[in-house]
Amino acid sequence: MPFLITIVFLSLFSSASTTSSAPYTPTDYILLNSGASSNTTSDDEARHWAADGDDRYSNTSSFSSIASYLEPSVTEVPYMTARIFHGDFTYKFPVSPGPKFLRLYFYPTQYPGLDMTASFFSVTANKYTLLSNFSAYLVSSASPPQAFIVKEFVITVGTEQMLDVTFSPSPNSFAFINGIEIVSMPANLYTGQTYGSILLVDTNYFFELENITALETAYRLNVGGRDILSVEDSGMFRTWSQDGDYIFGAAFGITPYQPNATIKYTEATPVYTAPEVLYETARTMGPIASINLNYNLTWVFTVDPGFYYLVRLHFCETETFLQYINQRVFNIFINNHTALKGMDVIGLSGGNGIPVYKDYVVWVPQSVNDLWVALHPQTREKPQFYDAILNGLEIFKLSNWDGSLAAPNPRPETVLLAEKHSKMKGKFLKQKSVIVGATLSIIVPMVLIFVFWLRKHLLRTTEALNRRKVERPKQKCTENWVTKHVTYSYMVNLDRV
Ligand SMILES: *[C@@H]1O[C@H](CO)[C@@H](O)[C@H](O)[C@H]1NC(C)=O
Ligand SMILES: *[C@@H]1O[C@H](CO)[C@@H](O)[C@H](O)[C@H]1NC(C)=O
Ligand SMILES: *[C@@H]1O[C@H](CO)[C@@H](O)[C@H](O)[C@H]1NC(C)=O
Ligand SMILES: *[C@@H]1O[C@H](CO)[C@@H](O)[C@H](O)[C@H]1NC(C)=O
Ligand SMILES: *[C@@H]1O[C@H](CO)[C@@H](O)[C@H](O)[C@H]1NC(C)=O
Ligand SMILES: *[C@@H]1O[C@H](CO)[C@@H](O)[C@H](O)[C@H]1NC(C)=O
Ligand SMILES: *[C@@H]1O[C@H](CO)[C@@H](O)[C@H](O)[C@H]1NC(C)=O
Repeated sequence: MPFLITIVFLSLFSSASTTSSAPYTPTDYILLNSGASSNTTSDDEARHWAADGDDRYSNTSSFSSIASYLEPSVTEVPYMTARIFHGDFTYKFPVSPGPKFLRLYFYPTQYPGLDMTASFFSVTANKYTLLSNFSAYLVSSASPPQAFIVKEFVITVGTEQMLDVTFSPSPNSFAFINGIEIVSMPANLYTGQTYGSILLVDTNYFFELENITALETAYRLNVGGRDILSVEDSGMFRTWSQDGDYIFGAAFGITPYQPNATIKYTEATPVYTAPEVLYETARTMGPIASINLNYNLTWVFTVDPGFYYLVRLHFCETETFLQYINQRVFNIFINNHTALKGMDVIGLSGGNGIPVYKDYVVWVPQSVNDLWVALHPQTREKPQFYDAILNGLEIFKLSNWDGSLAAPNPRPETVLLAEKHSKMKGKFLKQKSVIVGATLSIIVPMVLIFVFWLRKHLLRTTEALNRRKVERPKQKCTENWVTKHVTYSYMVNLDRV
């Protein structure tokens, strides 16, 4: 096995060192490939992941493990290796003060000698509880099933200049992690905004979103557009997904596309707010006023009850016939309450191609599992078009009074239902794993080397094709990356083990 790993990682290392010339350059940028024995570059996005130790930390309470098989949709980095914890374990990351993205990558597949269905654990970061008695297996099998789980949090680090991430297995259980990512962000991007408070929907109150609140990203959507990869983001490696799955009812509106739009960022909406590609697409209601007046353009999201949520709506008028105020004016509803009457994107932004965003906070009570966002034309001012528009949407769960973001696992009934729905897929995967398992026990290194070689070449080919299709941001090699990334050190607090 060690022989095989060396080969795979050497071949990955041959890819060039690249970094995107994004508008924002993070001061802290850490990618840790847990359980890996050497530094690697991810296949799909050419990001450099550091190994968390050549098993320096391995003993009965922590050891590295290699997934028994990878589903075709899952990338080797960071998902092929994991670190497994049988006791509390803390990673200590030295970082600068300020807000950070913390991304945790979990791949609850089969690992030799481990039963993933029996893994329950908590994760804390500094004083925040991020996950509690968390089962990656239950979350990944709930509807809609996901092969891997990426959890993204926003945590503000203070003068201690340290981000401690602690994994604590539930009694008689174990914890695991495949990858950890830490990326800094501009100080006032989401929390601690200096230019005003945020309306608490359905009240006359304003919500002070200060930097003591931690956030968990629930949804981040490129409305009416395609998935935006982390390397295409404005420098913080956020991913933006398509919105189609969240549209309520049969009315999908239409999705205008302005690939040549010039986006004019402003002081209020700086260039790092969202990448240009987000504003190139949108969803509008359609050209027929009488139809638009009879429906709401609605998105529905499943959320954990008992938390406040930050809802950020991104807007930009790019269609050339929209230049003036009172052309397209609409109302914004959140959870069936009016958040804003008479939203006029040009009126707010000052012109075509100028992006803006609006933030709202909404309380989701214990009895409710949904978060609704709806748009409807406003007719009172007799605008030119009875229509509405949305370009992007971000929804964050806010930490509660005791600094927790944790929610219960999906109920096993939902999991069973989801398994039933994906029965065909499950069978297919099971057969595959049996075949791979059998192969493993017979001719381990040779077959796997060939499989990985083939996979890599196929991936490279698809990647090359994708590159041709999708225009990516220019990437260039800088010395900067090396100086920035090689100076990080990872300390592991073994006192707590
Ligand atoms: C695990 O190994 C570290 C050193 O690598 C040691 O300090 C620690 O006590 C060990 N823990 C156990 C439970 O053996
Ligand atoms: C958090 O907010 C407080 C109050 O606005 C401010 O004094 C402090 O510098 C902020 N901390 C960080 C790390 O940004
Ligand atoms: C953890 O969750 C599982 C299933 O959701 C439950 O059976 C178990 O009792 C929970 N354990 C603790 C310590 O809360
Ligand atoms: C965008 O610009 C390119 C060249 O500048 C042009 O060929 C293309 O037709 C334009 N596309 C649209 C939709 O305007
Ligand atoms: C909003 O209204 C719809 C339809 O009347 C209802 O089904 C839904 O539960 C409501 N959502 C919330 C969050 O109150
Ligand atoms: C749109 O949503 C609002 C808020 O839930 C509701 O009051 C209104 O009746 C809806 N309009 C239509 C046409 O469905
Ligand atoms: C791996 O990367 C880390 C952090 O970027 C660096 O400290 C370490 O020296 C690297 N190790 C090797 C063998 O290149």
